[in-house]
Amino acid sequence: MSVRLDISVACIFRRTCAGAVVLLLAGSCAPAWNAPPVSTPLMAFAQAPVSRIERGYQIHQTQCAKCHPFEDPANYAPAELAGEIMPVMARKSKLDKADEEAVLAYLLAARRMPP
Ligand code: HEC
Repeated sequence: MSVRLDISVACIFRRTCAGAVVLLLAGSCAPAWNAPPVSTPLMAFAQAPVSRIERGYQIHQTQCAKCHPFEDPANYAPAELAGEIMPVMARKSKLDKADEEAVLAYLLAARRMPP
């Protein structure tokens, strides 16, 4: 808990944030991997049009990646991503509802791709 609070404080200062999260990841066992770009295999798992999935990917790269590397969505249940994680992360990223849904649709497709 205290580690998470420290990271949130670090995130107030954008520049130190990425470094703080890299340290956190290095010290934990959670593997980080790069966000997979939108591709035919990824679209095979998508439940939204390619335009929305692509938008979700772009928002991930520009907004979510400011704070941390891609968090493998396969580590989380769809209900957890939709109901708990994305509402919090969308607030952190100041996303509107449409952008939040685009990122969620992208994560739900990406979580089913083999790493
Ligand atoms: C302002 C910084 C910030 C932004 C922007 C941000 N995150 Fe996070 N994220 C965090 C921090 C800090 C944690 C770890 C602590 C926590 O769960 O709040 C985290 C944790 C996560 C987790 C792990 C879930 C968990 O409960 O531990 C996922 C998945 C995630 N973020 C996805 C995203 C996505 C997707 C976006 C873009 C929509 C995003 N994040 C934007 C700071 C951020």
